[in-house]
Amino acid sequence: MSDLPPAHFRNPRARHGFRSRTCSITGVGAYVPERILTNAELERMVDTTDEWITSRTGIRERRIAAPDEATSDLAAKAAVRALEYAGVTADQVDLIIVATITPDMLFPSVACLVQQKIGAKRAAAFDLEAACSGFIYALEVGQQFIMSHTYDTVLVIGAEKLSSIVDWTDRNTCVLFGDGAGAVVLQNRQRSHGLLTACMGADGSKASLLCMPGGGSKIPATHDSVSSRLHYLRMDGREVFKNAVTAMGLAAQEVLARCDLTMDQIQCVIPHQANRRIIDAVAHRLGAPVERVYMNVDRFGNTSAASVAIALDEAVRGGIVKRGDLLLLLVFGAGLTWGAAVIEW
Ligand SMILES: CC(C)(COP(=O)(O)OP(=O)(O)OC[C@H]1O[C@@H](n2cnc3c(N)ncnc32)[C@H](O)[C@@H]1OP(=O)(O)O)[C@@H](O)C(=O)NCCC(=O)NCCS
Repeated sequence: MSDLPPAHFRNPRARHGFRSRTCSITGVGAYVPERILTNAELERMVDTTDEWITSRTGIRERRIAAPDEATSDLAAKAAVRALEYAGVTADQVDLIIVATITPDMLFPSVACLVQQKIGAKRAAAFDLEAACSGFIYALEVGQQFIMSHTYDTVLVIGAEKLSSIVDWTDRNTCVLFGDGAGAVVLQNRQRSHGLLTACMGADGSKASLLCMPGGGSKIPATHDSVSSRLHYLRMDGREVFKNAVTAMGLAAQEVLARCDLTMDQIQCVIPHQANRRIIDAVAHRLGAPVERVYMNVDRFGNTSAASVAIALDEAVRGGIVKRGDLLLLLVFGAGLTWGAAVIEW
């Protein structure tokens, strides 16, 4: 980090000190489907054990959406809760950004479907795809619209129905993922809950480590592509694990340096909930005490773009995060992509 230029050259906002924010998170909300899929049930589906899954990942159960429940349904429910929390009506929303890799269909966007479902008639709407890093990417993009005074109220949602792209015959991946959605409302407020800074990164040279090969313009759906199982998520777990620990560690250092903060000033770390061992390794690298690291991976597994948003909602509503606390959000995902954000609650 010592080779990096001074923070204010990289982040103009830092010139005025990290407290000069104009973007606040005024609402949080989340929704997970009712159906719980336990490790015991997975033992009956593939060659695995509860002991293997818990010891290697920390996951005990995950939520699975109903067959007639699409990503936009999960997203809309989380959005309504975030709007209620913020005391904002749907017709006050200027922009909806949905981060997802499991849209209802290739087009139109999930954001447009959410706009209709919640009745946000005035809002512009688009999707953003940065896999499991999607929520922080969307947060940073949404913030730009607030900071530039383009919009007053932006709804940022991370939502996934990963059960629709998981290969339920592949024990290497099917035990890891779950469905759910989380949302925040961004507004221009000179008070607490401010997003102080965020960073994003990507390395497309490692795209093949985690991908779904079929269904896009390169390999459109055919009988062959379906029988070759190309419409399912594929992953090199070990390589993803190593890259995740390094990237989230560096992203954390980047945003802390920008804000002139050290780890002991952070009250709550909310990392992407992919695997308890990844979270432990990142926390260890950063010197973050385990009691300050929020975890719900045991109950929801990896919900990709929804993961940090669901955890933030739980931490706020559960009273774990208190006014004035400094939060560090960390994400990592396919792309490869990664990101971090600092929030003063
Ligand atoms: C997938 C992951 C849990 C595997 O854990 P691991 O400790 O790396 O496991 P290893 O690679 O050492 O061992 C894998 C072995 O367990 C087996 N295995 C894999 N899944 C299994 C399961 N569900 N049950 C039982 N055995 C399993 C493999 O077949 C392999 O067996 P082999 O050595 O005989 O070939 C881990 O690599 C991981 O979490 N990676 C990151 C995944 C992730 O978070 N992705 C999303 C990022 S956004």
